Amino acid sequence: MFLSERSTQEERIDLPNRAESETVAEFRELDRFNRFFRFDLVFESELPKWLGEDHCARLEILDVGAGTGLLGKRLSEFARRRGWEWRFTNLDANPLGLRDGGAPNPVVASALNLPFPDGEFDLVVASQMTHHLSDAQVVTHWREAWRVTRDGLFISDLHRNAWFYVTLWLTMLALRSNRSLRKDGLISVKRGFRRPEWREMAKQAEIPQAKIWLFFGTRIVLQARKCSG
Ligand SMILES: C[S@@+](CC[C@H](N)C(=O)[O-])C[C@H]1O[C@@H](n2cnc3c(N)ncnc32)[C@H](O)[C@@H]1O
Repeated sequence: MFLSERSTQEERIDLPNRAESETVAEFRELDRFNRFFRFDLVFESELPKWLGEDHCARLEILDVGAGTGLLGKRLSEFARRRGWEWRFTNLDANPLGLRDGGAPNPVVASALNLPFPDGEFDLVVASQMTHHLSDAQVVTHWREAWRVTRDGLFISDLHRNAWFYVTLWLTMLALRSNRSLRKDGLISVKRGFRRPEWREMAKQAEIPQAKIWLFFGTRIVLQARKCSG
């Protein structure tokens, strides 16, 4: 049945040998959509109350699959307005988005083999990246993310459901998104996740007491901490 299982269809942005100009254009279009859909909202609304305002004063954060680094820029600004200092390291396998977006502290590397020692960051986040991976790779990605965080892990991705698929399709048409993002956006929802799938993957990645929940029916979120607060 439609959307009952994750699609394995590849997104165009992941295709090798693609023209650089096309990929850069898609990253820019994705940023336009991310601003419109407030992709940072789930982080802004949850992180301070989850970590506690005291912990938020100074954070070293790794964003895995950071794209252009837009999330880090927006959250650093959000923190700055509150008198906090959040410093982002932006890691992505694709250098084009990092370069085009002028991402601070860029690192070109794979989410499956993070080039950092254990416990290097206070917090590791990922936004709309996990669905690019196979189920087995998600487990490796989360093991790695859990290894390099000394405290929190906060992953946000797309929830796989028909309502979201149709709404996204209509919104992309209304906003006249480019064809490439339109195709990838819909494939992304088909590659998205349901809660039982993430519970099983968190178990396999040996992340204890992972909380998995939905944000406005469009996002699926995993959060877990090593420290109790
Ligand atoms: C849809 S974009 C998301 C970008 C940004 N985080 C956001 O929320 O819009 C997915 C990003 O994940 C990156 N990515 C995919 N597989 C990866 C991997 N194995 N390691 C690191 N980055 C990866 C892609 O290059 C791309 O920049």
